[in-house]
Amino acid sequence: MSFSESVQRIAVVGTGVIGSSWAAFYLARGFDVTAIDPAPNAENALRQYVEKEWPILEQIGLSAGASRDRLKFSSDLQAGLKDADFVQENGPERPDFKAKFFAQIDAYTPKKAILASSSSGLTMDVIQAECANPERCVIGHPFNPPHIIPLVEVVGGAKTSEQTIEQAMQFYDAVGKKAIRLHKALAGHVANRLQAALYKEMLYLVQQGVLSVEDCDAAVSYGPGLRWGCMGQSLQWHLGGGPGGIRHFMEHLMGPLAGLMKALGDPQVDDTLRQTVVDGVLTQAKGRSVAELTADENQVLIGLLALREKNGLC
Ligand SMILES: NC(=O)c1ccc[n+]([C@@H]2O[C@H](COP(=O)([O-])OP(=O)(O)OC[C@H]3O[C@@H](n4cnc5c(N)ncnc54)[C@H](O)[C@@H]3O)[C@@H](O)[C@H]2O)c1
Repeated sequence: MSFSESVQRIAVVGTGVIGSSWAAFYLARGFDVTAIDPAPNAENALRQYVEKEWPILEQIGLSAGASRDRLKFSSDLQAGLKDADFVQENGPERPDFKAKFFAQIDAYTPKKAILASSSSGLTMDVIQAECANPERCVIGHPFNPPHIIPLVEVVGGAKTSEQTIEQAMQFYDAVGKKAIRLHKALAGHVANRLQAALYKEMLYLVQQGVLSVEDCDAAVSYGPGLRWGCMGQSLQWHLGGGPGGIRHFMEHLMGPLAGLMKALGDPQVDDTLRQTVVDGVLTQAKGRSVAELTADENQVLIGLLALREKNGLC
């Protein structure tokens, strides 16, 4: 039996922004889910969130046995973890807190379970430092919101076992996520670094007065961003190379591209630039609330993911 086949109950620890989305995702994939959060209104907020997002999860497609009734809630960490086969941790992002928190999670969870942290900014070396069983601890970093965006970045710490990493990769793949393995731990993992690299140049262009915030967003989302929704940049260059594909691209276009990389800018992030971005974003939003924009974006993302699957781009 593979590791994923042995998983029946998933504990989602911390039910804020990311934990709620993970809980909804795992319910939709047909698991028993125990959500754990000590905040006074956490259970109510989570149940409302799952209710609100369920239609979109139905639209994506529910797995056999998926049901909102399979959500249990506990405000007590020990009680909530006692029968977990897999833990997805989403607590506060503070190094001192997270290390002690993970040591507690490790102490309360059955030994065969894997303990995955959603942490965006901490390395597993820091998180597993105080655990009695650090070999079963791994980063499983999602991209927000995990009930819609497939990407999960998997990376261990020095004490994480190879078996844990392989089982975590296999588990995320089996539940329909797109898991990628990072062979080295880096601050911010990878996807956020890629966003930061692009945004650095966007801010530079805006600060230099080359174009407005709105047009800079358009330059991404009406151009390369549309293509990135289909395939990544290296595979795109294969198309950009014409019939000769990536080999032709490397011979004829990589040189100029490498030259352009040297000309990229370094913005000074000051109050004026921040205000310019705020003004530009609010102009683009045209009075639509964050919730409205999120709902609209989610619909487009679901459609895109379905089209990718239909066309074999997954
Ligand atoms: N927000 C994002 O876009 C995003 C994306 C990817 C990963 N992450 C990571 O996910 C984790 C959570 O981030 P968030 O944005 O959801 O934060 P959040 O502040 O929205 O949620 C944190 C939750 O943890 C709960 N909590 C506090 N103490 C707890 C305890 N002892 N036991 C159980 N729960 C407890 C809080 O009540 C809160 O509901 C962080 O590690 C973050 O780096 C966040």
